[in-house]
Amino acid sequence: MEKPLTQHIVPGRAPLSLKEYEKVGGYQSVRKILKEMAPADVQNLVKASDLRGRGGAGFNTGLKWSFVPMGPEVAKPKYLVANADEMEPGTFKDRVLLEGNPHQLIEGMIVAAYAIDASISYIFMRWAYKVAAREIIKALDEAYEAGYLGENILGSGFNLDMHLHTGVGRYMCGEETALLNALEGKRANPRAKPPFPQVSGLFGKPTIVNNVETLCCLPHIINNGAEWFKGLSKTGDAGTKLYGISGRVKTPGCWELPMGTTIRELIEEHGGGMQDGYLFKGLLPGGASTDFLVEEHLDLPMDYTAIQAAGSRMGTGTMIILDDQTCPVGFVHNLQHFFAQESCGFCTPCREGLPWVEKILLAIDRGEGKPEHLLTLDFHTKYLGPGNTFCALAPGAMEPLQSALKYFREDFERHIHEQHCPWSKAKVWQPS
Ligand code: NAI
Repeated sequence: MEKPLTQHIVPGRAPLSLKEYEKVGGYQSVRKILKEMAPADVQNLVKASDLRGRGGAGFNTGLKWSFVPMGPEVAKPKYLVANADEMEPGTFKDRVLLEGNPHQLIEGMIVAAYAIDASISYIFMRWAYKVAAREIIKALDEAYEAGYLGENILGSGFNLDMHLHTGVGRYMCGEETALLNALEGKRANPRAKPPFPQVSGLFGKPTIVNNVETLCCLPHIINNGAEWFKGLSKTGDAGTKLYGISGRVKTPGCWELPMGTTIRELIEEHGGGMQDGYLFKGLLPGGASTDFLVEEHLDLPMDYTAIQAAGSRMGTGTMIILDDQTCPVGFVHNLQHFFAQESCGFCTPCREGLPWVEKILLAIDRGEGKPEHLLTLDFHTKYLGPGNTFCALAPGAMEPLQSALKYFREDFERHIHEQHCPWSKAKVWQPS
C-alpha cells in the first residue's frame, strides 16, 4: 500500500506539524486541484474512484457531491461539514485520524469544498475528543497562516473558511440533519429527507456532510488517481478501510487494511485471536447498530457488499466481539440502554419503543421474563424498523436485537425458562 491514510500516524507521537506534513507531500492535492482541475474534474475523479462514505452508510461520495447545485446563479454560501461526531459504540477510527494527522483531514476538506464550491466549512466534533480538538485547532492555525485556508487560497481566487465546532455529547448529533440543526443552534432533532442537505442543508443552503475517514481518502485519490484507489481493495468495494476490534481478543485495536480483508484475518491476525479461555460466539461488524454475524460468516470479506449480502451491514467497520462467557441478553440490553438514552424523543416509535424494549430485556436478564416477551420484542424489531421512524437511530438499534433473537434465541428462551441468567456468575464485559 503506497500511501495509506495512517502512514504518518505514530501512536504516542505528536502529529506532524505543517512543515513536516508538507515535507512528506502534504497539501500537494490542494496545489494540484487549484492549478489543474475544475470542480467538475474533482467530482468526476472521486466518482470514478468508487469511494463510499465511511461514516457507516456507504453512500457513493462523488454521487452525493453531484447533487449539489453548481453555477453562478446558486445561492451562496454553500457549506461543507466534516462529521467528526464519532459516537457509534465500539467505534474509534476517526479519532485515530483526528488525533494522529489533523492536516490530512484539513487537506481532504479543502478538496471536497473546492469540488462543490463551498466557501464555509465546519468540523463537527464529538465533545469528548479533547486531544483531537486541541490538535485540530493547532493545525487550523498553521493552515491559515500558510495560506491554505482563508481568502484567495494560494493565489487561486478560491476562498474557504474552516471552523471547529464541538458537540455536547449526544449520539443524535452524528445524524447529518440533526447535526445541521445543532450547528444552527437548535435542538438536535433530525429533519425530514428529502430535501437532502445537498440541496437544502445548513441555514437552508446546499451542504455536504462527509465523514472524517471519507475526507481523509481524498488527497490520496487526487494524487494517485481513481484506479490506484480501486486497486488497493481485495474486492469490488474500493480503497482501504480503517477496521477496528473491541471485545475479548488478545490485541484489540484499529488498523488500516485493504477493503475486503476477511473477518477471520481481522480477528485472528490483527486482533491476535480470542483471549485464552474465551470462545467466539458472534460479532457486530460495524458498531452497535448492525446485525450480528456468527461463526459461519468468519470467512466473509469485510466490505459493504459482502456484509450486506450476509444480512448485516459493514457500518463503521469497527467490530464488537461477543464471547461465550458474556450473556447475549445482557449484551443486547446494554446496547438498548444506550439507544433508548440517546433517542432525541422527536418521533413517537423511537421515544416510546426503545425504553420499552430496554425494560423487557432487563426483565429477561433478571430472570423475570415471560414467554410472550419474545413476541413483543419480535414485534418491536418491525415496529421500530426502517420506514416507521424519522431517522436511522431506532432501526439501527433494532439490528443487533433482531439478529440476537435469530442467532441466540435459545439463550433468551433459557433465561425465561430458568427464570435466571445462566451467565449471572460469569464476569460480564460491557461495551463502552
Ligand atoms: P443514509 O443512507 O440515509 O444516508 C447516507 C448519506 O447518503 C447521507 O449523507 C445522505 O444525505 C445521502 N443520501 C442517501 N440517500 C440519498 C438520496 N436518495 N439522495 C441524495 N442523498 C442521499 O444514512 P444516514 O442515516 O445518514 O446514516 C446512517 C448510518 O450512520 C448507519 O449506517 C450507521 O452505521 C452510521 N452511524 C455512524 C455513526 C458514527 O459514529 N460513525 C453513529 C451512528 C450511525
